[in-house]
Amino acid sequence: MKILLFGKNGQVGWELQRALAPLGEVVALDFDSPGPLSGNFAKPLSLAATVRTVRPDVIVNAAAHTAVDKAENEPALALALNAEAPAVLAQEAAELGAWLAHYSTDYVFDGSGDAARTEDAPTGPLSVYGRSKLAGEDAIRASGCRHLILRTSWVYAARGGNFARTMLRLAAERDKLTVIDDQIGAPTGADLLADLTSLMLRSAMQRPELAGTYHAVAAGETSWHGYARFVIEWARQRGHAIKVPADAIAAVPTTAFPTPAKRPLNSRLDTGKLRAAFGLHLPHWQVGVERMLSEVLG
Ligand SMILES: NC(=O)c1ccc[n+]([C@@H]2O[C@H](COP(=O)([O-])OP(=O)(O)OC[C@H]3O[C@@H](n4cnc5c(N)ncnc54)[C@H](OP(=O)(O)O)[C@@H]3O)[C@@H](O)[C@H]2O)c1
Repeated sequence: MKILLFGKNGQVGWELQRALAPLGEVVALDFDSPGPLSGNFAKPLSLAATVRTVRPDVIVNAAAHTAVDKAENEPALALALNAEAPAVLAQEAAELGAWLAHYSTDYVFDGSGDAARTEDAPTGPLSVYGRSKLAGEDAIRASGCRHLILRTSWVYAARGGNFARTMLRLAAERDKLTVIDDQIGAPTGADLLADLTSLMLRSAMQRPELAGTYHAVAAGETSWHGYARFVIEWARQRGHAIKVPADAIAAVPTTAFPTPAKRPLNSRLDTGKLRAAFGLHLPHWQVGVERMLSEVLG
């Protein structure tokens, strides 16, 4: 089996290089990969030539415009990367009879209420990023290609910067921290997403009726404040240099940190469809975060 992976150096893309390897030969590209194959999503039509050359059985798209605030000022680029390029991949996959695995986000919802949303809940993105990701989903579904769209949230990885690392750095430097406590979601590891993708592709290729859109997040829920406290206390208990006292991590509303892009307050995603269809278990978010902390802190 031949797999064409786009966005190989992103958080999820990096883990996919590992998780897809047992399925077959992986041709992995980044936006500036050298050689004749283009992986540049800013030039969507160049991707068609790549697919026609490689002729994969599976396309996995981990590339995206993920800078949520920056996207507010560059909507055309966000649309090109998050919707137009995935649309080209979907058309090529449909013509080739290939599978397409793609990632989307809780930001396709408006974040109202406090219930966990199912896959068929009404969408209502609040930002350019959310609208561009929803347009990407819609284009894939409309293409008729066999696809798996995994909507996820609050992605972290051991490699590169992430929220937990930022909190640990600040906690080592400051006497007081303020963290948002009215956005609720589930921190989800890039490693978990990559493993789910590999397992789901394997099942779906044997049972094509499993194609569709799925919510894929770790179990449980927290706020950014709860996430920060968990990470800081984990590090403190293991003797890492933490200056901020536990009672000096203040909880503040989203309005305390104005940002160009509006974010959903309720990012809870119901994962019942994925668990039932694929018979998979989703571990609690703390399990993956502890593992990531062990990796980055030693
Ligand atoms: N991160 C989250 O919290 C989150 C939450 C929900 C859903 N998702 C979705 O999950 C998927 C994976 O996200 P991630 O966290 O792995 O994001 P990421 O680490 O930002 O990875 C995205 C990759 O796309 C690359 N890229 C940027 N411009 C490109 C271009 N013109 N052509 C090709 N590639 C380009 C980036 O390269 P550079 O780094 O060099 O720019 C990066 O390697 C995305 O679909 C994202 O929308 C993410």
